[in-house]
Amino acid sequence: MDIGFLREDYNPPLLRRKDLSETPFPTFKTWFEHAIASKLPEPNAMTLTTTNLEGQPSARMVLLKEWTEEHFTFFTNYQSGKATQMEQSPKVCLLLAWPVIYRQIIIQGTVAKAPEEVSHAYFQTRPRKSQIAAWASDQSRPIDSREALEKRFKEVEDKFAKQENVPLPPHWGGYHVKPQRIKFWQGGKNRLHDCFEYRLESDGSWDLQRLCP
Ligand SMILES: Cc1cc2nc3c(=O)[nH]c(=O)nc-3n(C[C@H](O)[C@H](O)[C@H](O)COP(=O)(O)O)c2cc1C
Repeated sequence: MDIGFLREDYNPPLLRRKDLSETPFPTFKTWFEHAIASKLPEPNAMTLTTTNLEGQPSARMVLLKEWTEEHFTFFTNYQSGKATQMEQSPKVCLLLAWPVIYRQIIIQGTVAKAPEEVSHAYFQTRPRKSQIAAWASDQSRPIDSREALEKRFKEVEDKFAKQENVPLPPHWGGYHVKPQRIKFWQGGKNRLHDCFEYRLESDGSWDLQRLCP
């Protein structure tokens, strides 16, 4: 299949230094709001990259559920493939890719488990059936069939049927990614894109540099 003809011209307004804040967070907020306003499906979906002990990277999507000036938060299974890798190597990369608006944000940082109360508070906001699914799924492990998975789901549903609240599974919760570098990239005309990188300095300030695209 020839896909060489797939070529899109990017022509958004240029991104200038003056458009960017001193620290990355106001810019992140502005860009995120723009992604929401652009009605992108799942604007908070991001690629999480981890590495194993041999340096082999793995990538998958997770949902960004919160951010502060300290960290970016997502939730998952603490016994999953990604969790094992993050224990082995806490250096991770997050990629928010929004090609429809010609933008991406790349965050490099260090990951740590979120405090249990954060996981607990978020878990309580999930629909009940999603809570049941978190109990029923041994994420990343083999299972014989779809039927076996649905049987497990039903068993958990029955187990908690008389309880008003489904408890937080011990194997499920949040991670905080503390950013050290954040790159804002915007596609430009003639592939002359705009790219700026914030780097966290040892004194806690952020350095901002334009990079060649
Ligand atoms: C749009 C999208 C959002 C997802 N969000 C999450 C999430 O927030 N947490 C999660 O554990 N898995 C999420 N997944 C599933 C993961 O991509 C992945 O398949 C799963 O977590 C197992 O990954 P692992 O084996 O690398 O640990 C999402 C998948 C997609 C396509």
